[in-house]
Amino acid sequence: MKKILIAPSILSADFGKLNEEIASVERYADLIHCDVMDGCFVPNITFGNEVIKCIKSSKPLDVHLMIANPEKHIEAFAKANSKIKMISFHIEATKQPKKVIKEIKDFGIKAGIAIKPKTPLKRILPFLDRLDFVLIMTVEPGFGGQKFMQSVLPKIKELRELRELAPELDIEVDGGINAETAKLAVRAGANVLVSGSYIFGAKDKKKAIENLRNLEAPGNAVKKC
Ligand code: DX5
Ligand code: ZN
Repeated sequence: MKKILIAPSILSADFGKLNEEIASVERYADLIHCDVMDGCFVPNITFGNEVIKCIKSSKPLDVHLMIANPEKHIEAFAKANSKIKMISFHIEATKQPKKVIKEIKDFGIKAGIAIKPKTPLKRILPFLDRLDFVLIMTVEPGFGGQKFMQSVLPKIKELRELRELAPELDIEVDGGINAETAKLAVRAGANVLVSGSYIFGAKDKKKAIENLRNLEAPGNAVKKC
């Protein structure tokens, strides 16, 4: 089984003190997940490369682009912060996925494709062999604090089965992840867990991250299927 990586999503942090918020979780986390929204591909607007430039993190940044035509902006994001180690873009947002993957990788950054809950996996299969990871949305992209969509679990399982062909591929899940839904996602095959409101809304963020990480602790076992 692949190592579980926990990626707190700063969408649920207080943007007025972003670096303090990151400092409050980075010791316990593996990655810091940064949601970029443009008000076009998704109805909400968050921040762009200029804000990412100001982020201070001891952990790698995982940038999730929810923007139209990502091919126009890869260079700006790739150069924004040396801690960026992963960039994903949405398959629904571009007609040039191969070009975008190549651009990301040419900067030495891991490339991922993100897919919305209703987008079938077959849309991304032609690109699987050149991807480092796939981000499977388990809510409609745009907002934190939504309910995990169990209807997406078969897609995670399907991808895990395909991963036999690409064992290095990471499967990231994003949306509605808490200690309960994380178990379902990991059991289905996910190994990178993005979580916003569950972590930043917790009184004890360290404990919240531990709850996500220790899914196989006694009484909390992940059943194989
Ligand atoms: C939603 C974002 C998520 C969001 C998850 O479009 O991509 O990363 O921050 O937030 P929670 O964990 O609260 O669902
Ligand atoms: Zn995200």
